[in-house]
Amino acid sequence: MPITTCIFDAYGTLFDVAAAARNAAAEPRREAFAAHWPAIAANWRLKQLQYTWLRAVMNRHTDFWQVTQDGLDWALEAEGLEGDTELRARLLQLYWELEAYPEVPAMLSALKQMGRNTAILSNGSPDMLSGAVQSAGIGDFLDDVLSVESVGIFKPASVVYDLVGQRFGCAPDEVLFVSSNGWDAAAAAGYGFKTVWVNRAGEPVDRLPAKPDRLLTDLTAIPELAA
Ligand code: LAC
Repeated sequence: MPITTCIFDAYGTLFDVAAAARNAAAEPRREAFAAHWPAIAANWRLKQLQYTWLRAVMNRHTDFWQVTQDGLDWALEAEGLEGDTELRARLLQLYWELEAYPEVPAMLSALKQMGRNTAILSNGSPDMLSGAVQSAGIGDFLDDVLSVESVGIFKPASVVYDLVGQRFGCAPDEVLFVSSNGWDAAAAAGYGFKTVWVNRAGEPVDRLPAKPDRLLTDLTAIPELAA
């Protein structure tokens, strides 16, 4: 089937979360954070994602804003910075005002000119996602922003991927699903979407039951793949 619909993961795929932490480390009076920021950023993301998976299997859902705070608290304490409440507040604020990767606006605009449906499908809560979309200035290029909050469980539960067909009335093989998370791309491939893993860091492919169809290092070639 030809691609009718292009679906994007949010954090790390469209929005540059690593740059936010890196920029915070360069701010005045952030020497302690600057010395630890790569470990804090990595642990923050790792714990945030682990908590989504664990809460899904424990059937103890809460929204992504809560697990984002819980992951940050773990990461700050691991580096002995749990007492810095101003730093905590600043890092959390950054989640609401993220920049998109530089190629994102032109890529989304090209998809819209080609007549493709475009949307985000994310763990993010609707208010977090609307803050990030607004701050990145990409709202005009998106038909919708789909959040797991409407089904109350995180990715990679298949009911989350069901939201795409429900919204756009398309079959899974008409969907090009794009994620920078190897596990998300693998799950979406197993679901039946055509998938792209945006592997900016050159990581190994996840050993999961399905593999992404394509690997890219950024989003520039997405309109070509959707043609
Ligand atoms: C999301 C996370 C997984 O946006 O990056 O869903």
